[in-house]
Parts: sequence; structure tokens; C-alpha cells
Amino acid sequence: MWNEALMHAVEKTKANIGKFGDLFPWTGIDGGDYKRSNHDDWTEGFWSGLLWLSYEASGDPAFREAAIRTVHSFRKRLIEHKALDHHDIGFLYMPSAAAWWMLEEAEEAKRLGLEASEILLGRWRPAGGYIQAWGPAHDPQNGGRIIIDCLLNLPLLYWAYEQTGDSRYLSTAMAHAEKSRKFLVRGDDSSYHTFYFKQENGEPIGGGTHQGYTDGSTWTRGQAWGIYGFILSYRYTRNPLYLETSRRMAAYFIDRLPEDQVTYWDFDAPVEDGTPRDSSATAIACCGMLELIAHLPESDPDRIRFEAAVHRCMKSLTEYYFTDDDPEAEGLLRHGSYHVRGGMSPDDFVIWGDYFYMEALMRLVRDVPGYWYERKS
Ligand code: GLY
Repeated sequence: MWNEALMHAVEKTKANIGKFGDLFPWTGIDGGDYKRSNHDDWTEGFWSGLLWLSYEASGDPAFREAAIRTVHSFRKRLIEHKALDHHDIGFLYMPSAAAWWMLEEAEEAKRLGLEASEILLGRWRPAGGYIQAWGPAHDPQNGGRIIIDCLLNLPLLYWAYEQTGDSRYLSTAMAHAEKSRKFLVRGDDSSYHTFYFKQENGEPIGGGTHQGYTDGSTWTRGQAWGIYGFILSYRYTRNPLYLETSRRMAAYFIDRLPEDQVTYWDFDAPVEDGTPRDSSATAIACCGMLELIAHLPESDPDRIRFEAAVHRCMKSLTEYYFTDDDPEAEGLLRHGSYHVRGGMSPDDFVIWGDYFYMEALMRLVRDVPGYWYERKS
């Protein structure tokens, strides 16, 4: 089943190459086209990642050529410093530039990835001891804000450390992972989307949300970023606290799945007819759990539990959310959501959902884990 789904996803991605040209798919309504972005959001790397995954799945050089074209466009974006004043530099440059380096040791790709990691490093705020999520330093609104999504950007810093031996990358990633564990994860293993600190001394102020239902609720995609992000930090640092945090966050996630195994947009949002789901959160959590399973001993009972959950979730995504029944659909997964409360794409294709769905399929079929770390390490 997974292999068939993977092959259909690869076919769809191939059909999309000509349609998107030099633009990037962003979000899209089922029955319509993907809205295109012009390198001005946090999402463009996922199209590159889909192209690299499709190349690995099929060996078709058309994917490689298209992926490399996107990497060149990421070089241009970096030179122009276009829409890079945020923490999502790992989402942009890992599945694009670092992926090319990982697959083919292309020196220009490694250079680009390292230059990008300097931008992320530049968001470290020493007075507060965290990586600032959005906006310029000292921004009155966002200067003291961290967000859980950043855990998926830390691999860029860990990777840069591995490439260069420069300890600034490692110490920053480790310090930010620890800050995130202490302040974004709550005692019952749920999570805040964001947390605020006093900018001048890092004194904690409190948790909040940007895309979730309320400040104290658990935004499902945030929880999924936590599952995957902490186990990636574990992979790089071997700090057992991160494995435990990922494990506990995964248990929280799977214990609250609805009947069809695909999360609503927030675990605390009232569920009624038409409550939006976020299929991307489920796809991300599956990738995180597949990574987590790889670090659990054979005898660990959670292995079986998480494996079973991944299979149930991926079966539902494949049978009810994947668009293989509609050759015209540009997206792979229906019913993702970007920012429900803000009215942005509450029930759409979202390009990161497509990427993580294909990453999960590649993990299941080929044991290929995506582009968040070098496979040889
Ligand atoms: N990283 C932004 C989001 O998950 O919507």
C-alpha cells in the first residue's frame, strides 16, 4: 500500500513541475490550483524537498534538475536577503541546499547551507538566551518570543556544527532546545505554541499561542513539531531528556486522535460539524514517531504502540486524504490547515503537509528519512 501511494505521489509531483515553473506551491483549495509563492514565506523548501524525495524514489533526472533549480533560487534569495528575518531558515535551506549536499556532496550547496545557518545563528539573543522567532531584535512585540516550530530549524545549526566543528552552532542549538523543553512543554506533556521572555534578562513571562485555539490550548501542529523536533535534537546531542520529551509528546498526541486518526487543528478546539482538521500535523507526527521508534530498543513497549499509531494514521491519510483519486489535484493531502483562527487556509492543501506525507512514505518504504540530518551519522 505504501509503495503504491509513494509512486502516485511521485507521479503527481512530476506533473506539478511544469505547472509551477519558477514559483513555489504554498496552500490551495481542493478543486482549485495551489496558490503560488514567490520566495517570500517559510514554506518554499518543502517543494525542493518533495523534488529530492521524488528523485530518490524514482531516479528520474527531471526531479534532480528541478530540485537544483530551486537551490539556485535559494542562493538568489539569500543574496537579496528576501524574507529571511525569521527563524524558519532550517525549513527553507535543509530540504533544498543541505539535501543536495547530503545526496551528492555538491560544494556550492554546502556553502549555501552554511551561509544560511549564519542567518539563523544571528537570531540568538544572548541576554535572553534563546533564538528569537520573528521580527528584528528588540522588537517590542516579538523580541522576547520563542516558538515550538523552531525545533525543526535547529537541525540546520547541528548540521553546520558537524560540517565545520564551530561550537557556536552546537551551543546555540543545544541552549535553545533546552529553553524550549523547559518552557514550551507543559507538565502534562502538552505544549504551548509560543513563550515570552523579558528581552533584557530572559526572565520568563508566560506561554501563549499564535495559530492555536487559545493561549493555554495545544495546537496540534505545534505538538507534532515538538515530537519530531525533540527527537532530532536527541539524534544530534544524545541528551536522553529529548528522547523522553519526544516520547511523552507522542503519547499525548496519539491518545487524543479522533476516530479517523487525523487530528483537528487544535486538541482543545470544540469539535462540531465542520471543525477543520490539520492533516499536516498528523503527517509530521508520523515522521517524528518513525524517527523516535528508530531510537527505542526492540523491547520497549512504546515501539509497538507508536508503530501501530503510525500505521493507523498513514492508512487514514492514504485512504481518505491523499488525492490519488483526482489526477487534477495539485496537492497530495486534503484538509491541512495553516492558521485557522486567523482565517488563513483553514481547510486546504498545504505544501509542508505534502512534504511530510511523502517523507513518511519514504521512511516506510525505503527507510529514507528526509533531509534533517546526514544519513551516514
Ligand atoms: N512554522 C509555521 C507553521 O507551522 O505554520
